[in-house]
Amino acid sequence: MQQPASVPNNLVLIGFMGCGKSTIGRELRRLLGYPLVDMDAVIEERAGKPITRIFAEDGEETFRDMESRLLVELAGAAENGRIIATGGGVVERPENRACLQRLGYVVWLSAPPAVIVQRTRNNQERPLLHTGDPASRITHLLARREPWYRESAHLMVDTAGLDSRELASGILESARYFFADPAHSRCKQP
Ligand code: S3P
Repeated sequence: MQQPASVPNNLVLIGFMGCGKSTIGRELRRLLGYPLVDMDAVIEERAGKPITRIFAEDGEETFRDMESRLLVELAGAAENGRIIATGGGVVERPENRACLQRLGYVVWLSAPPAVIVQRTRNNQERPLLHTGDPASRITHLLARREPWYRESAHLMVDTAGLDSRELASGILESARYFFADPAHSRCKQP
């Protein structure tokens, strides 16, 4: 059996598109003063083009490869004290799921499908929703990914009812509790 390792002092936000990872990430940055690493933004910067063009010109697998590489980089980085907002599909690959809890305290932001449909309706920046029937794409992807979000997270937060300020302070309180308790602030290496 491998030795348990302490969890770095990062806050990691996972969850489906439209569940508020970037918004709550910004709110946590405001409250904590930690830098925010928005993985989608880093990937776009490295590729020199938006995600829609990465998908269209290079394919989803290329995007996923970039995402996995970035995750490994973040998990291996010496820096602590960051907020990491992942893309909604980060849980698609088992090696990514195995990496998440080594990054820090993992918070799953969730919302019911109807809320996600509403929130993502006017946004054209998500190639997976460029379909004639985004609602059924959302239902299908969500059903597949929910068990993966659940197994990857330390905490699940329903974002449907509260505003981002309230959500961020709840998350902070729970993260403080987690990091203060040595029994909690350890996890098994995969
Ligand atoms: C994706 C979610 C997007 C982005 C890409 C793929 C997904 O991020 O990474 O379009 O597979 O769910 P957001 O969850 O920030 O929209």
